[in-house]
Amino acid sequence: MKPVYYSEYLQLDKILNAQELESDKHQKHAHDEMLFVVIHQAYELWFKQLLFEADSVINIFSKESINDNSPDLQVAVHRLNRMGTILKVLVQQIDIMETMTPMDFLDFRDMLRPASGFQSIQFKMLEALLGLKYEHRHGQQYYISQLNETDVAKIKSLESRKTLLELVNNWLERMPYFKNENLWSDYRALYASSLQEAELGNLEHFDNIFFNSGNAEHRSLSADASKAALFIMLYRHYPLMHLPFELIESLLEIDELLSTWRFRHINMVGRIIGMRTGTGGSTGKGYLKGALDAHYIFKDFSSLTSFLIERSKLPKLNLDIVEKLGFDKD
Ligand code: HEM
Repeated sequence: MKPVYYSEYLQLDKILNAQELESDKHQKHAHDEMLFVVIHQAYELWFKQLLFEADSVINIFSKESINDNSPDLQVAVHRLNRMGTILKVLVQQIDIMETMTPMDFLDFRDMLRPASGFQSIQFKMLEALLGLKYEHRHGQQYYISQLNETDVAKIKSLESRKTLLELVNNWLERMPYFKNENLWSDYRALYASSLQEAELGNLEHFDNIFFNSGNAEHRSLSADASKAALFIMLYRHYPLMHLPFELIESLLEIDELLSTWRFRHINMVGRIIGMRTGTGGSTGKGYLKGALDAHYIFKDFSSLTSFLIERSKLPKLNLDIVEKLGFDKD
């Protein structure tokens, strides 16, 4: 076999010859366009890795059953944490983009129309794989109108697959430990007594979320999955709950980092193009703010923290459950 050679293995001839500047094509060389191209390419490579990890985690959760203390769950948590680490780098890369001044951008900006980061199909695939549904996207018409047919087909077929959020919901529903009527009626009473006067309305939300009563608010987690997730948060000190707790934390971390990226991107956009519309034709900053608010994917997990109570007041679990959950009998 031919010895492996660094540049061939990495196909650097392709990657390092993939920076064609529009400003050069127009014979108006703009120095900062190189940075603009390279940074977008670097983002796209990392998006590729994020998709690769997300896809593998989805495959794990697509299994009929996964043991809550199995290598499968460890691998899933490990990869989700890796995604968080990559996202941290992606947030930081905005610093590099911000070394380009508004005037430097104006040197080549008009040559890019109507291309825009908005057309990043990998970014949209990542959102869709994690759990963002078409009907919950901000600016839906705009979203489809800016993509070519192949990309629209790609994203639509992804959106018809089960998302990570749906699969985690199903996995939570299958957890046996929290299915105890008495536990939840006791917990409801303890929660009610923990509320301040101004918070009494929370009890109605509690019933909507955990008992499906009243006008069910739009939620991506079912009542059973919400109970299981709250159980994990409350009893995470039991060994068998460690990994499920880490899993929920890793999803929240991903959501927070994606929104941090969006927030920094908005600020950068404001700094570089001000109130101008985007090259993709959106309202620019206005559109991006709408997407920031609407595109939290795992918000139903973070909202569960409203329903926690002090550790010292937690209902004691039955012994048979405690034994299943591990050695901690407190
Ligand atoms: C000079 C720097 C940049 C400016 C002025 C800018 C501006 C914008 C604007 C105005 C939009 C809204 C859509 C439109 O009308 O075009 C947008 C969307 C977007 N941009 Fe940027 N951008 C910049 C750099 C980047 C970089 C480095 C990335 C990295 C991949 C990126 C990724 C995205 C993505 C993914 C969206 C879609 C966001 C969503 O739909 O929620 N942008 N950008």
